Amino acid sequence: MIAPSLLAADFARLADEANAVPGADWLHVDVMDAHFVPNLTLGLPVVESLMKYTDIPMDCHLMIDNPDRWAIGYAEAGSYNVTVHAEAAHDPVKLAKDLRAAGSKAGLSIKPKTPLEPWVEVLRHYDTLLVMSVEPGFGGQAFIPEVLDKVRTARRLVDTGHLTVLIEIDGGINDETIEAAAEAGVDCFVAGSAVFGSDDPVRAMESLRAQARACGRR
Ligand code: DX5
Ligand code: ZN
Repeated sequence: MIAPSLLAADFARLADEANAVPGADWLHVDVMDAHFVPNLTLGLPVVESLMKYTDIPMDCHLMIDNPDRWAIGYAEAGSYNVTVHAEAAHDPVKLAKDLRAAGSKAGLSIKPKTPLEPWVEVLRHYDTLLVMSVEPGFGGQAFIPEVLDKVRTARRLVDTGHLTVLIEIDGGINDETIEAAAEAGVDCFVAGSAVFGSDDPVRAMESLRAQARACGRR
């Protein structure tokens, strides 16, 4: 699966940009609050408006403080998947239950330096695991290959039936890095600059998908 990240799109033309990637599996929306990360993007009103212009399932990545309070609105608005950060959530198990009760999938994200092991039990309550392969906050950064160890561990836990999460990766995914991520066992690849920075976003997306398929283990 490929989830183009609108962070690299033209924010004044978000609906057009969403429609420029018709084959996308999910549309990745980066919500940043200038507190959890040193950058500010968009929030719920923009996500709600955008939903009127696209049928692509919305994958909201909340890089915000206190997601326990704010994440639910994104689920209630109709997002397909709402991802919160393990480092920011106060009660991640309750949060996952709330998100699911509101009708969305629940996602848990970990930053590059956050280990996976302490979160494995919590992840039993989640549908997706978003492994950050750059420090969250900005697009266009270089992929951090060391995070693939966490992907391999998560893949093993899923393949042996200990977890049922879909494994997503975010940051620095392009035609030079996607194969290693696919080999490690990623299911869903977020790509911002590699898709929206390209002259032909559909072709860029399809070429990433073909590479991932060729190298993926599933
Ligand atoms: C970064 C965001 C990413 C970003 C990825 O904090 O979470 O989703 O858009 O951008 P690229 O693909 O350019 O690294
Ligand atoms: Zn993201």
